[in-house]
Amino acid sequence: MKQFTAIVIGAGSRGSRYTDLMGDQPDKFKVVGVAEPIVDRLNYIKNKHGVDEAHCFDTWEKILDIPKFADIAIISTMDQMHLEPSLKALELGYDLLLEKPAAITPEDCGMIYKKAQECGRKVMVCHVLRFSPYFMKLKWILDSGLLGDVFSIEHLEAVGHVHQSHSFVRGNWGNTSRASFMLLQKCCHDLDILQWLLGKECKRIQSFGSRNHFRIENAPEGAPERCTDGCPHADKCYYNAVRLYYDAKNNAWFRDACAQKPNPTDEEVWHALETTQYGKCVYKCDNDVVDHQTVNMEFEDGTTVAMTMSAFTRGGRKTHIMGTKGELFCNMDAPADKAFEFFSFDARATRYLDSEIATAGDSITGGHGGGDTGIINALYSYLAGELKPEDVSEIGISCRNHMLAFAAEDSRLSGTVISLDDYMSKYM
Ligand SMILES: NC(=O)c1ccc[n+]([C@@H]2O[C@H](COP(=O)([O-])OP(=O)(O)OC[C@H]3O[C@@H](n4cnc5c(N)ncnc54)[C@H](O)[C@@H]3O)[C@@H](O)[C@H]2O)c1
Repeated sequence: MKQFTAIVIGAGSRGSRYTDLMGDQPDKFKVVGVAEPIVDRLNYIKNKHGVDEAHCFDTWEKILDIPKFADIAIISTMDQMHLEPSLKALELGYDLLLEKPAAITPEDCGMIYKKAQECGRKVMVCHVLRFSPYFMKLKWILDSGLLGDVFSIEHLEAVGHVHQSHSFVRGNWGNTSRASFMLLQKCCHDLDILQWLLGKECKRIQSFGSRNHFRIENAPEGAPERCTDGCPHADKCYYNAVRLYYDAKNNAWFRDACAQKPNPTDEEVWHALETTQYGKCVYKCDNDVVDHQTVNMEFEDGTTVAMTMSAFTRGGRKTHIMGTKGELFCNMDAPADKAFEFFSFDARATRYLDSEIATAGDSITGGHGGGDTGIINALYSYLAGELKPEDVSEIGISCRNHMLAFAAEDSRLSGTVISLDDYMSKYM
């Protein structure tokens, strides 16, 4: 079995997750280089994978300033730092595992796609949901023909109110100028999944959305700048940072992110709450991304899809698929045997489909409903030539799906309906 070597550029939450998973499969992968400015994060990778000191760097520029010394470059820096390292790594001859969004403008996505073609390299974009057992089963159901012809879908990306506050108000993705816009950063997964499930191309798109709740005028009276300053509303506020980050000792996701290191101490978390935006009143941050949005899509044969993204939810994804032979209610958060509820027009009765689709699933578990593990497995198969580009979220396919997000955002801001064909011919 061939072992692929990898370097990681940006060893934060995602970069360390992918390299951890590679470390679990030493016959398939070996991590041999890292570029990361935060010393604790760099040392985590260095020690965990035994990376040679000579292959540890504090910036992507430095690791890509020397000749190629591995098969794959994992690009897991923040959204705005995907383009340049991707282009440089492709020129050096690396294949890429590229975090989504591939890039933050349609022009930049097109540039990465074209560079990959020019250099003859493989680029897989991290649309992890495609590789989750839940969506693999859903794809199997649709392809089986059980629903007949599918002509309409309602899809809900329920971000969750606390997740919104952590990532899209206080965190990295709250402000468009620091990261990217909400639909691109959060829902490019959903837009990818919808086109993939239907196996059809979207032709026209239209969107509305705004930021209504997480605004300064909604701060409760007397709320201080920071939750650590003793807020009179602490007991009732859903977003009390002391409770979410300091008291919740098991919430490694939130604690690691706010302290910017793995397994921080209580003192380090408290310090982060006193000094970073993670401790700020959720109504007094510099966020500007929407907290709710709808997207309407028309596909090539007139199929219509209505998608809603909303912060004001418990969290999870739900999809209602309407076919000529029945309708399917899908709930990603339901127990596996209750995830797919089918009303058959023939039987005029409802049944759960789990036993019928047992052959389609797999036993992957973990982050993103198994998607992180699934994408690393798929990456191996893709590089080994066992999977074709159309079987994975390869850059050409992914960019087409990213274009939906760019076009929808254009529509939201301009109040117009956007043609995808125009977008594709302009940027791809
Ligand atoms: N596929 C998914 O489901 C998914 C989920 C979450 C995030 N993401 C995406 O993954 C990417 C990374 O997100 P994250 O949560 O890991 O962020 P993060 O902030 O935890 O990690 C980014 C890392 O890049 C490092 N970095 C900064 N400047 C650098 C430089 N010059 N050279 C090298 N490294 C540098 C930072 O220090 C940081 O450790 C983002 O684009 C994000 O949108 C994808």
